[in-house]
Order: sequence, then C-alpha cells, then structure tokens
Amino acid sequence: MKKRKIVIGNWKMNPDTLKEAEALNEGIKKKLSSVKKAIAIICPPAIFFSKLKSKTSSKKFFYGLQNVGKDISGAYTGENSVLMAKNLGAAYVIVGHSERRAMGETDDEVSKKVNLLLKEKIHPVLCVGEPKVDEQAGHLSYVKTQLVKGLEGVSAADITRVIIAYEPLAAIGAKQPVTSYEIHQRNIFIKKVLADLYGKAKAFDVTILYGGSVNAANARELVSGGEVDGLLVGRSSLDAAEFIGILKAMDALS
Ligand code: PGA
Repeated sequence: MKKRKIVIGNWKMNPDTLKEAEALNEGIKKKLSSVKKAIAIICPPAIFFSKLKSKTSSKKFFYGLQNVGKDISGAYTGENSVLMAKNLGAAYVIVGHSERRAMGETDDEVSKKVNLLLKEKIHPVLCVGEPKVDEQAGHLSYVKTQLVKGLEGVSAADITRVIIAYEPLAAIGAKQPVTSYEIHQRNIFIKKVLADLYGKAKAFDVTILYGGSVNAANARELVSGGEVDGLLVGRSSLDAAEFIGILKAMDALS
C-alpha cells in the first residue's frame, strides 16, 4: 500500500511577529481543503505554538515543534520539554536538525530526545545528512553514525513511529536541492542501515523524507525520483501558496 505523502514545514526562527505567524497559519489552513491526500505538519517557533494550534481533529493537518530539551525536566534555561510539547498537542518534533547540531547538539542528545518523544507518543523527526560528499564514501559512514547513534535505545516495535529526514547540508538554505538520483541513493542507504538494525520489513515501513531547497516547482520530481515519502521544507513553508503547492504536488503522487 502506498503511504500518504508527508510535508513538514519548518518555520525555523520566523516570522518576527505573532501577527505574521497567524496570517501565515490562516493562509495555509484556508487553502488546505484543496489538498486531498497529503499530510501537512507545521512546526512554528515554540513561542507561537499554542496561539496557532487549532483543535481541529483533521487527519491531514498537524502541528509540531522544532526542538525539545534532552531531559524530562530540570534546570535548563530556555529549553522546552517533551512533556510541555505533549501537553500543548505537538504531534511531531524535529530533532537533530543540522542547524541545531551546529549549535552543539550531539548524537547522544539526539537519541535521548528521540526516546523521550517516543515514550510520550510524539513522532520524532530525526534529521540526518552529510556536510559534504567525498570519494572515500565518508559521507555514508557519517549518515550511518547519525542513524545508529540517534536511534540508540529505539526498539523494533517503535522504529516505524520515527520519521527520518535526509537533509544534506549543501542543500539546506541553498539555491538548489541535490538531485533526485542522490536522494534515491541515500534513501536506499538509509533503508539498508535501518534493515541491519531492525530487519527489512520494518525498514521499508519507516517514513523517509528529503529536505533542502524544496519548492513547489521541484517537489514532485524530488519525491518521485528519490522515492521518498515526503519533504521537510524550510523557506518554502513561509509562503502559504508555495507550501500548498508542495502539498498538491504530493497529492499527485499519493
Ligand atoms: P530550506 O531548509 O528548505 O530552506 O533549504 C530546509 C531545512 O533546513 O529543513
């Protein structure tokens, strides 16, 4: 059975005002009825989350967060906990984004977050991706390490609740995505690593997304050529029409 395609909008540290965030949120919601099958997940800044999250019980529209603290509670200035995310109704949380890794997030912290999220029935969106491709295939061991360490402690029963987002650093915030051929190659590699950890059947059940310079014009080709289950979108999720355009491109593939 074909999985429904997923598009996650990572708003990062945007927009500047609640008014703009509400306008973007409303703009997306208004056009959502034109999306038939694809699932949309919006991850706004945590500070705006509860103002934006509506109590709709739609099966194709969810809200998530961009990060959570690595411990369940404690003295962590500036952090938001998994329990807070759960209580506010976050269904998904991004972990291990390269921008947070660049700020010091380690694989060990990533796995703690993944496990805490699973315990609280929130889907972790585990981001992996190489800083560069090299001839010795160092990029593959890089991604493998991120997967193996980031998933430490995750059981076979839980692995299908984790979403993997492949985001090569060269494509994030860049002019162009990588090619769908490269996405396909990495998709196969990620499935192989997951199969070694959890068996082939489970590996093929895990949702794998691509992220990096996605827009409404390139979304379809990246997903069909890369044979991935959807997309993690940064800049293009800040424009309602563009974001809906990506979701509609996914409808055509679902
Ligand atoms: P981008 O960001 O779509 O703006 O390249 C992607 C991401 O960082 O998730």
